[in-house]
Amino acid sequence: MNKEIHLPVDQVSLVEMGPRDGLQNEPRLLSLGQRQAFIERLAQCGLQRIEVGAFVSPKRVPQMADSAALFEALPRRGPTRYGALVPNLQGLQAAIAARADEIGLFTACSDGFTRANIGIGVEESLIRFAPLVQEARRLGIKVRGYLSTVIACPFDGPTKPKRVAALAERLLDLGCHEISLGDTIGVGTPGTVAPMLDAVLHEVPAGRLAVHFHDTYGQGVANLLPALERGIRTIDCSVAGLGGCPYAPGASGNIASEEVVYLLHGLGMQTGVNLDKLAATGQWVSELLGRPNGSRVGQALHARTRQSPPERHERTQGAPHAG
Ligand code: HMG
Ligand code: MG
Repeated sequence: MNKEIHLPVDQVSLVEMGPRDGLQNEPRLLSLGQRQAFIERLAQCGLQRIEVGAFVSPKRVPQMADSAALFEALPRRGPTRYGALVPNLQGLQAAIAARADEIGLFTACSDGFTRANIGIGVEESLIRFAPLVQEARRLGIKVRGYLSTVIACPFDGPTKPKRVAALAERLLDLGCHEISLGDTIGVGTPGTVAPMLDAVLHEVPAGRLAVHFHDTYGQGVANLLPALERGIRTIDCSVAGLGGCPYAPGASGNIASEEVVYLLHGLGMQTGVNLDKLAATGQWVSELLGRPNGSRVGQALHARTRQSPPERHERTQGAPHAG
């Protein structure tokens, strides 16, 4: 029997990763002005949460250098909240000085990835985070906890759902307002994502969860469905499918924001995002980076806008001399 997907018509919150997760793995570095223009364009698309940059070591991730200057340059009009990724106290202090609206601390389910990424194991990272969360909250800054390798680790192999659930609960107990569940290397399918989510939902309510799917194996859109069916309404995505983690070998970009918006609008859900503007921004930044547009929705919309009106007419009428 065919099982229909029943999703309530409602609002989904997108967290745009393009300027951070998106750019951190790109070989071509954008100038400060280009990064600023990128973020301003994204805000104009209606995106209300944008991760602007990262206060990490510029030697490790040169693409994120100058994130302080970027925050300084951004006009703070409008409803958009600007977030920053932070690995330690030095990063937190920089994010506070930059007046980040939100910070994201990041750890993982596996020691292999955590050590490669931030030089310490999972337990040590949680010990490090505790006072950081307290300090941020004392200042009224919301803290998102990223939990990477929720499906598998490039070094340690598959992750057990119970492990994800236990760590998500600990991040919540530390005081994170939201836990972003990262399939860092994009290997999940609904067959592995659904049991992982079921385990986590035993410990953490859907309203406190976000999903962060990388699209390495093209499963990102499929993986959103079990998340939506389970009531998760916060989705991380990256325009033009930019991104990847320099410390996760083989990982490609996040699920493209254009794909997410197209899917959600198609399901009758609301995002507050203008898809045409978003697609134009994805095409613009892809050209700036000298790379193909990684969003199929973006490519399709771009191809449509490139057709002149008479050509479009001919296509819809059929070619006059065909056959
Ligand atoms: P370390 O070498 O262990 O730290 O790095 P250290 O304390 O020994 O410091 C070494 C140097 O880094 C010093 O500078 C520090 O000042 C500097 P030096 O004396 O050599 O000139 N340093 C910093 N500089 C700027 N900002 C800071 C900072 N801290 C120290 N906050 C560290 C430890 C965590 C800094 C390093 O390993 C690092 O920066 N890692 C970055 C990793 C990263 O950005 N990965 C990508 C983001 S995570 C991701 O993409 C996954 C996610 O998307 C979710 C998913 O997909 O699953 C979130
Ligand atoms: Mg990521």
